[in-house]
Formats: sequence, structure tokens, C-alpha cells
Amino acid sequence: MTPASPARLKSSHALEVSAVGLTYRTSSGSVEALRDITLDVAEGEFVTVVGPSGCGKSSLLKLILGLERATRGRLAVGGREIAGPSRGVGAVFQAPVLLPWRTIEENVLLPADVMKLDRPSATERARALLQMAGLGGFEQKYPYELSGGMQHRAAIVRALVHDPKLLIMDEPFAALDAITREQMAGELQRVWMDSRKTVMFITHSISEAVFLSDRIAVMSPRPGRIVAVFDNPAPRPRTFADLLSPELARLSAEIRQSLDLACAA
Ligand SMILES: Nc1ncnc2c1ncn2[C@@H]1O[C@H](COP(=O)(O)OP(=O)(O)OP(=O)(O)O)[C@@H](O)[C@H]1O
Ligand SMILES: [Mg+2]
Repeated sequence: MTPASPARLKSSHALEVSAVGLTYRTSSGSVEALRDITLDVAEGEFVTVVGPSGCGKSSLLKLILGLERATRGRLAVGGREIAGPSRGVGAVFQAPVLLPWRTIEENVLLPADVMKLDRPSATERARALLQMAGLGGFEQKYPYELSGGMQHRAAIVRALVHDPKLLIMDEPFAALDAITREQMAGELQRVWMDSRKTVMFITHSISEAVFLSDRIAVMSPRPGRIVAVFDNPAPRPRTFADLLSPELARLSAEIRQSLDLACAA
């Protein structure tokens, strides 16, 4: 029997963030965005980061997406150090940013085109995912023909089309009204339960975080540090009404308190 190499041992984590720091250098000086961030995410786990505006949440995601390089520490996806944008990671941002001149199906196929995947099988997958997201019949429509919530769902489908192992979501529902937002969170829960992707999610909404996550990490104001990580073992599927249960109400209150303390420090 050959002993497992360290890289192999580490591959049980879909995402490893170890002692990561990020300082932006700008023409007017340097900005320390992140300090000593350590967070491992297990395969299939749903982890959310909450924190005040400007604390470095999007910066952390940029590092995971390979769009920025850490000043210190180490980041790895599936045991491989992050060296640049990777096929194994899909991203959903705050705005759905669909290309207006491409149909919904063509928009969803964008990552497949960029990565030069086999078009027919990618199209088949895109159609199945669109169906799953309640967008069956809208494949040939243009973005302006869809509601905001539908465009968001299309953007989520687009992030899934190349079957990434890790899905990164930066406040994907922030621009939506409260009702659509809860519906989308419910939709995401369903997608996650079906696909068991590893998800790293960012939100300002504690209820959204508690509704969706296995674990919730709280960040301090800049330079962003992780000040607490909370487990949420509540069974799924969850509803927003479940958040009123004593356990989840207590969890929400603890997260709120941790955020308030971090911001007051
Ligand atoms: N490219 C950059 N160059 C210099 N500074 C940057 C750059 N990107 C972000 N920053 C700074 O880093 C800090 C963290 O920004 P970031 O966008 O990561 O915050 P955030 O937590 O995502 O905020 P929000 O909740 O408002 O989206 C901010 O002070 C911001 O001004
Ligand atoms: Mg941000």
C-alpha cells in the first residue's frame, strides 16, 4: 500500500484557504483587504460568509476565482493550488450580466464556448438545467424578455453548465425584491440538494445565510478576518418559516451578535 501524499490527503477539502492575506497596492498607497484568513470547505458543503460592506468578501472570492493573487498564505481547490481562473470553479455575481444579443440558451452556453467544450453535449446539459430552473420554454428568448428573477436563474444555470465542482456566489440575490429573493434561495437550496456542489456564498442577509448554509463564517471590518464560524445542522429541505424555530432563531441571534461585536471592535 502506498502512503497517501499530502496533496491527496488534502483533496478531501474542496476548498482550502490557509493563513491568507491580501494587500492591494494602488497608486495612492496600499490597502490591506484580508488578514490571516483560514477556512476549509468540505466537498459538498454549503458555506456562507457574512460581513460588513468593504470587509473583503469579494476580494476573498476573487482570490478563489484566481482573479487576484494572495499576498500571503495558500489557496487550493480540490487539492490544487490556485494559479488562475479554473474550469473547476463557477461564479455568480450580484448582477446577472447576461449578454443582451445572445439568447438565454446562448448565454448559458458561454462558459462552454469559452472552454471549448463539446457544443451538442453542453447544449443538452444547458437545456436540462434550464428546465430544472423553471426556464424551460425560454431557451430562445433574449434577456430583456425575462423578469429580473428569471435572468438571475439563467445566470445561476450558466455558472453550472460546465459542471464546476465549486460554485462561488457573491451576493447573487442582492438586487432582487424580498419575495423573489426568498424564492431564489429556495431554488438554490433545491439545486444544491440535487447536485451537492460545494458552494461558497456571500450575503448581507443573516436569514439567507441561515436558511442556506451548513456553516456561516462571520468577517470583521477591513482588514477582513474571520471572527467566528457557526454550524447549522438543521435538516433540509428548510423553509424560511423554519428560521422562527428556537434553534435557528438562536443561531441567527448569535450571528447578529458576532457581527455587531466585530463591527464595534
Ligand atoms: N482592485 C482593488 N484595488 C484596491 N483596493 C481594492 C480593490 N478591490 C477592493 N479594494 C478595497 O478592498 C476592500 C475590500 O473590498 P471588497 O470589494 O472585497 O469588499 P466587500 O466585503 O465585498 O464589500 P461589499 O459588501 O460592499 O461588496 C475595500 O476597502 C476596497 O476599497
Ligand atoms: Mg462585495
